[in-house]
Amino acid sequence: MEKLKVAVLGLGTVGSGVPLILKEHQEKISLVTGVEIVVEQALVRDEAEKVDLAKHYDIQLTTDYQEILSNPEIQVVVELIGQIEPAKTYIIQALESGKHVVTANKDLLALHGKELVETANKHQRDLYYEAAVAGGIPILRTIANSLAADNITCVRGILNGTTNYMLTKMANEGWSYEQALDEAQALGFAESDPTNDVDGIDAAYKVAILTQFAFGMSIDLADIDKKGIRGMSSDDIQMAQQLGYIVKLLGSSKKTNGSVSAEVGPVLVPADHPLASVQNEMNAVYVQSSGVRESMYYGPGAGAKPTATSVVSDIITVAKNIRLGISGHMFNSYASETVLTKDEDIESK
Ligand code: NDP
Ligand code: HSE
Repeated sequence: MEKLKVAVLGLGTVGSGVPLILKEHQEKISLVTGVEIVVEQALVRDEAEKVDLAKHYDIQLTTDYQEILSNPEIQVVVELIGQIEPAKTYIIQALESGKHVVTANKDLLALHGKELVETANKHQRDLYYEAAVAGGIPILRTIANSLAADNITCVRGILNGTTNYMLTKMANEGWSYEQALDEAQALGFAESDPTNDVDGIDAAYKVAILTQFAFGMSIDLADIDKKGIRGMSSDDIQMAQQLGYIVKLLGSSKKTNGSVSAEVGPVLVPADHPLASVQNEMNAVYVQSSGVRESMYYGPGAGAKPTATSVVSDIITVAKNIRLGISGHMFNSYASETVLTKDEDIESK
């Protein structure tokens, strides 16, 4: 069977899950794509550290990205190193070299999505990033495809697995903030620097991407009001629970009269609301729209296997596109104008 050769950048929590998922589901994936998808190369910082993993999956390790870029056999680059640089440069170079790209990097998509999508369009390459929002929940595909015939008015949800895990443990087990954060890091839910998780920035990145998908509008990160859970105590959370409320970090984006307003912050959710029952690293996205009216999408928002499963689903989409000769297809394209969201900005327009 013909092979589709892939290079993975970064063999961390998610990156090491990709060859695992490909191997576990090799037969099924070959059936749906008509090719055998293999991780041929991986970019790492320290080869010695990843040698056993590389041997197990028969992956060639390199510390030199040029080796991947100049390898004509690599058709897909999967970026899983995270943060902005060098990830952004690597993705642009991959697209310019004629390779398709899959990534889970919400920081990059929220801040530079338009530029990346334009680069992909220019070179007629695929760029997919389903895992960037809500880990294992296929929410971007759902909004782009299944809700394409609907008019979405609001997307709201629990979009950060780390903080939802922390809030759950602080509420149910009385864990301290520090203990809960340490455990979320140990389980691979948190970013390498968890500041973005606990300060609501990671959720804001996801809100920005959801805004693009739900409303076809770009939103500047500075225009999303952001609050996190830093400094919260289990006493505060447990007291709210006794009063019938569950503390959740919610992100939301709402369209009113052609403008969008978005925010992230801790909210007292009534205990009988569907979002209140979303626990641990689970995420949920609650969509209000004129046709379907209300729908909620639920699943693991972080963790190696759910996220790698989502990444592999993107690789499968690329493989199918190549087979059908429709490379360059996107979920959607970025709007050209930035939307002002603050009330005063809207009023002064
Ligand atoms: P990790 O920190 O676990 O893994 C990142 C890996 O990339 C590490 O092995 C790191 O090496 C390597 N790396 C970093 N910089 C370079 C570089 N310049 N060259 C080569 N290798 C490099 O992160 P995750 O796997 O958790 O996250 C990866 C991406 O997926 C991020 O964008 C994240 O936001 C996103 N994501 C993560 C989820 C999760 O649950 N973890 C869920 C959804 C998305 P070293 O070990 O030497 O630092
Ligand atoms: N650190 C992120 C979270 C990973 O906890 O949700 C998934 O994007």
